[in-house]
Amino acid sequence: MQDLAQKRIVLGLTGGVACYKIAELVRRMTEQGATVDVVMTEAATQFITPVTMQALSGRPVFVSTWDARIANNMPHIDLSRGADAILVAPASTDFMAKLAHGMADDLLSTLCVARACPLLVVPAMNREMWANPATQRNAAQLVEDGIAILGPAAGDQACGEIGDGRMIEPHEILADLIAFFQPKPLAGKRVLLTAGPTVEPIDPVRVISNRSSGKTGYALARAAREAGAQVTLVSGPTSLPAPRGVDLYPVQTARQMHQAVMAQARQVDLFIAVAAVADWHVRNAAAQKMKKTEGGAGAPVLEFEPNPDILADVARLEGGPWCVGFAAETENLSEYAQAKRKRKNIPLLVGNLAHEVMDADDTRLVLFDEQGEHALPAAGKLDAARRLIAEIATRLPR
Ligand code: CTP
Repeated sequence: MQDLAQKRIVLGLTGGVACYKIAELVRRMTEQGATVDVVMTEAATQFITPVTMQALSGRPVFVSTWDARIANNMPHIDLSRGADAILVAPASTDFMAKLAHGMADDLLSTLCVARACPLLVVPAMNREMWANPATQRNAAQLVEDGIAILGPAAGDQACGEIGDGRMIEPHEILADLIAFFQPKPLAGKRVLLTAGPTVEPIDPVRVISNRSSGKTGYALARAAREAGAQVTLVSGPTSLPAPRGVDLYPVQTARQMHQAVMAQARQVDLFIAVAAVADWHVRNAAAQKMKKTEGGAGAPVLEFEPNPDILADVARLEGGPWCVGFAAETENLSEYAQAKRKRKNIPLLVGNLAHEVMDADDTRLVLFDEQGEHALPAAGKLDAARRLIAEIATRLPR
């Protein structure tokens, strides 16, 4: 599914080196189904040409207030009226100052003042410009006026300096824009999740693990954040990037995951255990690398000791969070899932068939609760995650 289908976005560019990254952003926005009307300040056209932006957006680009291509000659009204949002990226120091004071001396600033839709700005500037008290004052004013500020990030700057003020990356802008349009049923809630596999050492170079990719847990963390929650993700090793805006705690073993979760579980409203936690760890793990012997004689014998059950321990906490468990089964899903839900004493357990989900992009989820069984339609992991978060939000105690 395209995340920006039927959305019309006015994308404003102001003067800054980061303009070169906006070409990529326009591509990603149109891929997600957005109609993108690009408006540039004169300064922005010094950094990237309207020709490039027109080619990528597939639509006329506007720079001048006096552009006669709009029938009534009022581009500042026309462009903003049909828009679902105006996104200004990069937003220069000067442009933020203009916005804070309601100035309207070019097409983009006039459009912003005349708007009847949400406005999001993505600052991009040198660290001293961002730290300047006037810029900070203006940024605070924009927030007070209900304007969303995305970023800025810290790091290397085009000028060679290092610090706060650089524009967040195009994929992060896109994630924030998509999140902006998602419903917010978890606003004000704190959510803790586990995801991925755990790895249990045999010796310093060998481990026992499983084939969990972490995709479902990461998609749920993203969906929970999109739904307005403050999200912490305790994750075993995966090849996935941290979801935008989510606090990520990487761990290796089940016992580390247990410790990280128990340290935070009392402070959250909702705990979702998605991790494929190893049930056992090797009691006699070797301190040094094991060596093979001639002819394979004397193969190591591993002794196992059970790992703590993280979900069951959180569910046992007095005054603890509302708990959701996952069960990947290879057969008898309904029977095993309901039994597991009761055994772990949790209100909701989400089941799926292991061979359908391991490393796959699509998933088919079935909810098991006190009322019985409720199958969700098969979908991509992110769509399924959003749907599941919506289902959880309706069940979460007020
Ligand atoms: N879980 C957990 N800690 C464990 C084991 C499981 O938090 N040590 C959580 C998983 O994240 C999942 C749920 O419990 O949400 C079900 O895990 P699963 O391993 O399938 O259940 P088990 O109780 O181990 O049952 P079985 O191995 O018999 O399927």
